[in-house]
Amino acid sequence: MLGRTLLRHWRDAHICFIADLPETDLTDAHATENAIEQAQPDVVVHCAAMTHVDGCESDRARAFLLNETATANVARATAAHGARLIAISTDYVFAGDQPGDRKETDATHPKTVYGASKLAGEEAVRALCPNHIIARTAWLYGTGGPSFVHTMMTLAAANPLRTLQIVDDQHGNPTSADAVADALTAILARPDLTGTFHLTCEGVATWYEFAQTIFRLAGYNDLTLIPCSSKEFQRPAQRPKWSALSKAKLKSVGLPKMPPWQEALMRFIRHEWK
Ligand SMILES: NC(=O)c1ccc[n+]([C@@H]2O[C@H](COP(=O)([O-])OP(=O)(O)OC[C@H]3O[C@@H](n4cnc5c(N)ncnc54)[C@H](OP(=O)(O)O)[C@@H]3O)[C@@H](O)[C@H]2O)c1
Repeated sequence: MLGRTLLRHWRDAHICFIADLPETDLTDAHATENAIEQAQPDVVVHCAAMTHVDGCESDRARAFLLNETATANVARATAAHGARLIAISTDYVFAGDQPGDRKETDATHPKTVYGASKLAGEEAVRALCPNHIIARTAWLYGTGGPSFVHTMMTLAAANPLRTLQIVDDQHGNPTSADAVADALTAILARPDLTGTFHLTCEGVATWYEFAQTIFRLAGYNDLTLIPCSSKEFQRPAQRPKWSALSKAKLKSVGLPKMPPWQEALMRFIRHEWK
């Protein structure tokens, strides 16, 4: 979903090549090298991943194959070509058990297979491709979905009971893929920057607060939302309670601020559903 959004933002200003299944399997090192060799890029943006967090718990080998090995293949081939790498990562690299905003320099401690495999991918990028940006994002939604926003909109349209239970004890930064694309556009214009950056919208919400705002902005006034706890909504992978990411580093290097999450969500819902 993020890849599609980036393409929409960049296709008029840049020559963009897509390396995706089934044409290019990034778990195949030679196929990855060939794709980069053919495209001759200045910048490689690595969005591919196994993103199904619960699916990663039941298939650890595949999670590491996609999130670590494929990322290492991309990093090695990008470095060999002398290009810059932007690799997308996640808040799940943190334990998520402490309130407050995590900084880029905070200790990582993933509690899920998804988080551990994405952290292994980050480490491969750092080891194999010095000219890199690791962009950690979270709670992402974008055109076409799938995302929490799309799930809520589908439930709102189809729910005859007009009642929904939503988790209210996990906190994060709801983030529009368009806002991430804008931030990456600013990073593209700054070849002097390397290292890890947090790219999420400003402001914190629980899933319950996120859902409330989606329905208010979309004009669903007839729904009753019932807050519930993570314990009442058990999933195979443990979700972080505190996922908010600090963007102090963006400011410190003079990059534009990320927009407030409510503002980005309003723009998205207007564009996507009205
Ligand atoms: N979604 C979120 O809330 C979220 C939050 C934090 C971080 N992120 C990170 O953001 C990035 C983009 O996430 P997303 O939600 O946009 O992901 P997505 O929609 O699941 O897209 C992942 C893409 O990877 C491709 N892919 C999978 N295996 C591949 C392989 N072996 N070779 C080539 N391509 C392969 C998929 O192709 P097919 O569709 O053909 O399988 C798909 O196009 C990921 O790195 C993810 O970890 C996402």
